[in-house]
Amino acid sequence: MKQKKLLYTGKAKSVYRTDAKGTLIVEFRDDITAFDGGKKDTLKNKGSYNAGVSAFFFSYLEKNGVKTHFLEMLDENRMAVRELSMIPLEVIVRNFAAGSIVRNYPFVEGSPLKPPVIVIDYKDDSRHDPMLNDELIVALKLATPTELKKIKTIALKINTLLVGLLAKEGITLVDFKLEFGRQNKTIYLGDEISMDSMRLWDKKTGESLDKDVYRFNKGDVMATYNRVAARITRAPKTASAGKKAKSSKKPEKRTR
Ligand SMILES: Nc1ncnc2c1ncn2[C@@H]1O[C@H](COP(=O)(O)OP(=O)(O)OP(=O)(O)O)[C@@H](O)[C@H]1O
Ligand SMILES: [Mg+2]
Repeated sequence: MKQKKLLYTGKAKSVYRTDAKGTLIVEFRDDITAFDGGKKDTLKNKGSYNAGVSAFFFSYLEKNGVKTHFLEMLDENRMAVRELSMIPLEVIVRNFAAGSIVRNYPFVEGSPLKPPVIVIDYKDDSRHDPMLNDELIVALKLATPTELKKIKTIALKINTLLVGLLAKEGITLVDFKLEFGRQNKTIYLGDEISMDSMRLWDKKTGESLDKDVYRFNKGDVMATYNRVAARITRAPKTASAGKKAKSSKKPEKRTR
């Protein structure tokens, strides 16, 4: 597959056309940003850690019946994906109170949210990603009521799968953000699931294993990303209740 013209450069990824119709390349760059782009850096190998973890999760989810845009890894930073018409929603699933939900509401940091709380924000940096509700999403024609219901069901299924997988590695999935898109009328999970889009805590030590290390200068960001990527991608993909998973398949290896 040949990489063609650059379609879009985001804060951490670049998206390219390819010579294959309906297939794009997502390149995970080494750029890292926080606070609406207010803090920015370039950290060597960061892109490959996030790409590897995303690819691992996407293939795990596919095996468990979740439709994702992931096709294959082309190298350590580049992923071939299904071209989607992206729905400008940030679908956030929260299992424990942390981050903005603690700043904005009277939740105590670290308290469990059972059942998990889904928060959906409007993906629009110029408006600082304001929170939506179901009626606003439909009124803005961002998704139909049926699509919205489907998106929430898929998000909760992904949550169950990832909570289980990460727990086996001693990691708590505190919260994470998903983006969905359409190809024809089918909804696919797009974008990434990485240390940039999840909040992860070590079950034993409570230590942050995600972008909070960068946001709040909690330590060596790349050492954390390196360690957590290795830890996640060695989790056996057959760990969940997923019936479709083949027990003979070896977990994907990371080279770094
Ligand atoms: N399968 C896909 N087809 C088309 N576009 C996609 C697909 N997957 C992800 N995208 C889009 O590609 C872009 C990825 O870039 P990136 O995440 O760096 O930027 P951003 O979303 O604009 O910024 P940020 O996530 O930091 O707010 C996003 O706009 C995302 O919605
Ligand atoms: Mg993004």
